[in-house]
Amino acid sequence: VRVSIYGAGQAGSAVAALLRQRDQVVVEGPFGRAERERALTSGAQVVVIATTSFLQDIADDIRTAITSGSNVLTTAEQAAHPWTTDPTLAGELDLLAREHGVTVLGAGLNPGLAFDALVLTVAGASGAVAPLRVERTVDLSGFGAAVLRRIGVGHTPEAFAAGVADGTITGHIGFPQSMHLVAAALGVEIERIDREIAPAIEAGETVGFEQRYVAIAGGAPWFTAIFSGHTDPARPTHDAIHVASDPPIDLRISPGLNAQKGSAAVLANSVARVAAAPAGWLTVADLPPAVPS
Ligand SMILES: NC(=O)c1ccc[n+]([C@@H]2O[C@H](COP(=O)([O-])OP(=O)(O)OC[C@H]3O[C@@H](n4cnc5c(N)ncnc54)[C@H](OP(=O)(O)O)[C@@H]3O)[C@@H](O)[C@H]2O)c1
Repeated sequence: VRVSIYGAGQAGSAVAALLRQRDQVVVEGPFGRAERERALTSGAQVVVIATTSFLQDIADDIRTAITSGSNVLTTAEQAAHPWTTDPTLAGELDLLAREHGVTVLGAGLNPGLAFDALVLTVAGASGAVAPLRVERTVDLSGFGAAVLRRIGVGHTPEAFAAGVADGTITGHIGFPQSMHLVAAALGVEIERIDREIAPAIEAGETVGFEQRYVAIAGGAPWFTAIFSGHTDPARPTHDAIHVASDPPIDLRISPGLNAQKGSAAVLANSVARVAAAPAGWLTVADLPPAVPS
């Protein structure tokens, strides 16, 4: 498989390094902005786009890769379920992918596994659709400076509040995408998603945050997702999934899934499933699990 990687930041570089360890993969890149054309138009079997979180920002890159005949795998959180963000754009790119016989997939550790694919797998042991609660406590210390600032670390409490209000501070991106992806797979209709974010402050500066999103279905909380991020590598991390079925199901992963290495692995392990998938814009719910090979 020939893979071209656009985005020479942390994720693109880590995926390239992992894939280079595999004999069956030829890796081109990671390429930065200056080499956009080379990254996207080579006709590689899979183009990995690891640049931003936002669908609108990568739409042109996806179009270019699709029309060059490449399958697309992207880290952009909004791409995990693009219909949540912009159904018109998602529909347009889905159609374009089908016309060119290629696949588009948004994946990573989260979205892509922790708040969605893994939740669906665990829910498979439940006889009926049941309320879900998912928690992640994540060590953020391995993220680069740009990502940390954007998610909310390193601000005064006032700047944090202002950034949340104007949308420049986001916390973890991808809750609604994961929730809609899971809901679509289980046939649940989400009525609304309630959201809150609170900073963790030490010595007058934000060192993390807690986000809580609650998807309401049938007039009641159905899917609660909590993301607690901190920058102290000594603090314990964990992942937990609770399905309020009969009997209830509790999965606990300790230490928690590693944000950087886990994402790079899911992405590297997704290359084969994207290359083999049917045409169109798919989600991780449409595909077999990503496994190392
Ligand atoms: N789904 C998941 O689980 C998952 C996992 C990992 C990452 N992500 C997301 O994927 C994105 C990349 O992550 P990262 O950790 O690699 O971030 P990063 O270390 O900040 O790297 C991003 C790279 O992309 C470049 N870039 C940013 N915007 C661009 C654009 N519009 N066009 C072309 N290049 C652009 C940046 O270049 P400049 O420095 O020139 O801006 C930088 O080299 C982030 O938005 C992150 O949130 C998601």
